[in-house]
Amino acid sequence: MRLGVVRGASRLAGLLRLGLVAGVAGMLAAASHGQEPARKKQPPTFTKDVAAILQARCQNCHRRDHVGPFPLETYEQARKRAADIAVVVADRIMPPWKPERGFGPKLKHDQSLTPEEMAIIEAWAEAGAPRGDPKDMPPPRRFATDWKLGTPDLVLEPAEDFAIPAAGPDTYRCFVLPTNLVRDTFLSAIDFRPSNLRVVHHITAFIDVSGAARQRDEAEAGPGYTSFTGPGIPDFDMLGFWAAGHEPISLPKGIGIRMPRQADVILQIHYHPTGKSEVDRTRLGLYAARGPVKQALHWNAAQNFEFQLPARQSHIEVKASWFIPLDLEALAVSPHMHLLGKDMRMTLAYRDGRTLDLISIPDWDPAWQSTYHFEKPIVLPAGSIVKVVAHFDNSAHARNPNQPPRLVKWGHSVNDEMCDAFIAVVKRDQDLTVPGTRDDLAEIFARQRLRNFRKEAAKRRR
Ligand code: HEC
Repeated sequence: MRLGVVRGASRLAGLLRLGLVAGVAGMLAAASHGQEPARKKQPPTFTKDVAAILQARCQNCHRRDHVGPFPLETYEQARKRAADIAVVVADRIMPPWKPERGFGPKLKHDQSLTPEEMAIIEAWAEAGAPRGDPKDMPPPRRFATDWKLGTPDLVLEPAEDFAIPAAGPDTYRCFVLPTNLVRDTFLSAIDFRPSNLRVVHHITAFIDVSGAARQRDEAEAGPGYTSFTGPGIPDFDMLGFWAAGHEPISLPKGIGIRMPRQADVILQIHYHPTGKSEVDRTRLGLYAARGPVKQALHWNAAQNFEFQLPARQSHIEVKASWFIPLDLEALAVSPHMHLLGKDMRMTLAYRDGRTLDLISIPDWDPAWQSTYHFEKPIVLPAGSIVKVVAHFDNSAHARNPNQPPRLVKWGHSVNDEMCDAFIAVVKRDQDLTVPGTRDDLAEIFARQRLRNFRKEAAKRRR
């Protein structure tokens, strides 16, 4: 589901706003008279200023056979689209990095453009996209052709290629990969290598020790099974996340993700049709932790299961919270809604009333959801509360899957909604190398969920 219509309409408005329509015409007129106003500052050129920005910020997706719909590698390719580029950059639609700049702690691998880079692109487009001196052209950017974190300790992949039709809705397919590990193993990183980077939009990896995913796989024809949100089984753990154009992340020293012996990994892959029939077989690389692991990473969430989104309302607020039961440190967050989501904001409320901003996604786009890792872990003291405020639009807009709109509640399907703010945490001061220390965070969270569930049930009975 894409916002093509909305974007197409806003593009002309954007061009007019940036002065590009009149500006380009003005340029041509000046050129035909053979005179440039002499005192005008030299505009940025492609070779000297713009090429380096495209290399650093765009080519991870906009190069041959990647997810970007056209390459932005040569002058000609960029010149043709200069006006479009200026608009999507000014509106922060591209690169598709959704967190609000300056809200919350610094994030790893921030892909957003600096205000200076935005100004260069805008001024270049406005000046008619000049090429500049070929001598100023930076050498082409080289991209890793192999695993970026080095050879993984274990590589898993589905047994067969999966076929993605040329057109139609996006596909969410789960592939079950047995690890066959003979003992529990701590991982320090994972990475993903789709064989076809044109079609893979994002991937979420889960851990299944119940065998339920295998059963779903067997029950459905072809490799894997279809499931829109999550792996569609009752019990699972989160393993990791990948989005087109993102860099792999390794955990800080001393922190690991436990992969239980004989566990299966489920890769849930979001495929977006390209207009041609495509096939993909994504490989997963697992990296075992090298040194001793003191802290085990676990995911939990501030979630709301009770909300109602009345039909035809365009700005509905939904809140969620998570009471921090013991001292924790947060490493990453992953805001999650479906197609009606508009924005989401996560903050931490300390017991003394102070607050800390965590992340804000002001312009939610389900196609560009991601997991964001903090540059440095954030302390979540016992008794503080993670607070989430989100807004939903259940009016008749292009992205609404229910036409006409209907009352929407929590649920797994594409027609339902979610208001989840996932957080990856470790127990503060945990040292699993000390004999007798247990990796019990998942149990603590499960007990907390059960207590809350009972409290809610009791409230409803009253
Ligand atoms: C993470 C991958 C990624 C990155 C990074 C990225 N793009 Fe894109 N771009 C896409 C995809 C995919 C589309 C197709 C539309 C969509 O899916 O949103 C697109 C579409 C576009 C469009 C067409 C927009 C439209 O509405 O038709 C332009 C122009 C564009 N990108 C320019 C850029 C520029 C300039 C940069 C760098 C400053 C950039 N992109 C960075 C993936 C990316």
